[in-house]
Amino acid sequence: MAEDTKDTLTSNQMWGGRFASGPAAIMEEINASIDFDKKLYAQDIRGSIAHATMLAHQGIIATEDKDKIVHGLNTILSEIESGRFEFSRRLEDIHMNVEARLADLIGPAAGRLHTARSRNDQVALDFRLWVKEELQKTEVALTSLISAFLDRAEEHAETVMPGFTHLQTAQPVTFGHHCMAYVEMFGRDRQRVRHAIEHLDESPIGAAALAGTGYNIDRHMTAKALGFREPTRNSIDTVSDRDFALEFLAMASIAATHLSRLAEEIVIWSTPQFGFVRLSDAFSTGSSIMPQKKNPDAAELVRAKTGRINGSLVALLTVMKGLPLAYSKDMQEDKEQVFDAAESLELALAAMTGMVRDMTVRTDRMKAAAGAGYSTATDLADWLVREAGLPFREAHHVTGRAVALAEGKGCDLAELSLDELQAINPAITAGVFDVLTVEASVASRKSYGGTAPSEVRKQIGWWRQRN
Ligand code: ARG
Repeated sequence: MAEDTKDTLTSNQMWGGRFASGPAAIMEEINASIDFDKKLYAQDIRGSIAHATMLAHQGIIATEDKDKIVHGLNTILSEIESGRFEFSRRLEDIHMNVEARLADLIGPAAGRLHTARSRNDQVALDFRLWVKEELQKTEVALTSLISAFLDRAEEHAETVMPGFTHLQTAQPVTFGHHCMAYVEMFGRDRQRVRHAIEHLDESPIGAAALAGTGYNIDRHMTAKALGFREPTRNSIDTVSDRDFALEFLAMASIAATHLSRLAEEIVIWSTPQFGFVRLSDAFSTGSSIMPQKKNPDAAELVRAKTGRINGSLVALLTVMKGLPLAYSKDMQEDKEQVFDAAESLELALAAMTGMVRDMTVRTDRMKAAAGAGYSTATDLADWLVREAGLPFREAHHVTGRAVALAEGKGCDLAELSLDELQAINPAITAGVFDVLTVEASVASRKSYGGTAPSEVRKQIGWWRQRN
C-alpha cells in the first residue's frame, strides 16, 4: 500500500472519531466478541474447572496448581456475578478475559490451565452448555403453555364456534377442540426440544484445536463432570460443528411460527367484528387518540418476533454454508443469533401463556357465529345419505338447493319448515332437525380426533398424562 493511502486510512477522515487509533482499533472492533460472549462466563468457568480437575487427575498438572486454578476461577465467578469484573475488549473474548484475570489472581499456575485444549473446543463446549440450558428452559415454558391450553380446552369442551377453512365458515367445531390443535403443535415443538437436547449431549472438550492432543487426557471424565452423555467422537467435526445452534434455531423458528399463527388468530378474534375473545387489560393497550380502542399489542409483537427468530436461523445457516472444515472465525457470529432468538422465544412463550390464561372467551358470540353461514350443510347431506339412502353426490345437490332456499328467505337451515324441505326431497323427515343445530353437528363428529366433546375430552386426558 502506498504511504499516502495509508496516511489517509489512519487520519480518521474515512472512519470518523470512533476509530481514533486507526486500523488496529478497527481490527479490535471486528474481532472482539466479549460484548456478547460474556454471557457464557458461567459455562466457561464450569468447563475450565472440569478440565483442570481432569488434567490433575491424569497427572498432567500438579494438584496444587489445580487447586489454585479452581480457587481462582471461583473467585472470578463471584467477581462477575457481583459486577466487579472488568471485561476488556483488548482481550477479545470471554475465554481470554477469564484466563488473563486468573493470571492476575494466581500467577504462573494460570498458564497451565490451557494445556491440552484450544479456544476452539472451549467455545464449542461453552456454547453447547449454554444452548442445552436454554433448551431445558424452553421445555419448561412449552409445558406451561400446553397446560394453559389444556385448562382452557377442558373449560370449553362443549363451547361451539365456527371452524374455518380459507377463513370462511366451514363446519362447527368446539373451542376446546381448537385449543387442542395448539396443544398438538406445541407438543411437537417440545419433542423437537427434547431431540435437540439428545443430539447435543456430547462433550466437545478435548478435541483441542482440531486434531485431538498428545496428552493423556480423559475425555470421558470431563464429559461426565459436565453432565454430558458421552464425548464427541471426531475432533475435526467437534470444533467445526454448530448443528446444535442450528437445531435450536430451527426448533425456535417452528415454535415461533406456531406462536405467530396463534397470535394472528387472537388478533382476529379480538376485533369487534369477530368478538370471540376479550383480552385482559394486562395484555392489551389503549389508543392515545381513539378512546374506544383496545389493541392486542402483545399478540402483534409475538407475531413480529417470529420475523427476528426466523431471520436468525437463516443468518446462521448462511454463515455456516461455505465453511471448510474445521474452525473458522466466521463461527463467532453464531452466538448473537442464538442469544437474540432465545430471548425472543422466551418472551413470546411467556406472553402467550399469559394471554391464553387471561383472555375471556365469549361463548355467546362464538355460538352465534357457529350457526351462521350454513355451517351445518354437510350435516344435512350426511343425514340424507345415512337416513334416506341417497348417494353422497345427490345429497350434496339436494343440500345445495336447501341452502339456496334458506339464503333467499334470509333464514338458517334449521328454520326451514318440513314442508319446504320435503318439496326439495320427499325423503326428508322431521328427524333431520336433530342434526341441523350446531350442538348436534358437533356431538356427531365422534371419529378419533374429531370435534365431539366426548372425543375432545379423551384427547385432553391423553395429554394430561403426558404433561
Ligand atoms: N471468540 C471465538 C469464537 O467465538 C473463540 C474461538 C476462537 N478461536 C480461534 N482459533 N481464534 O468463535
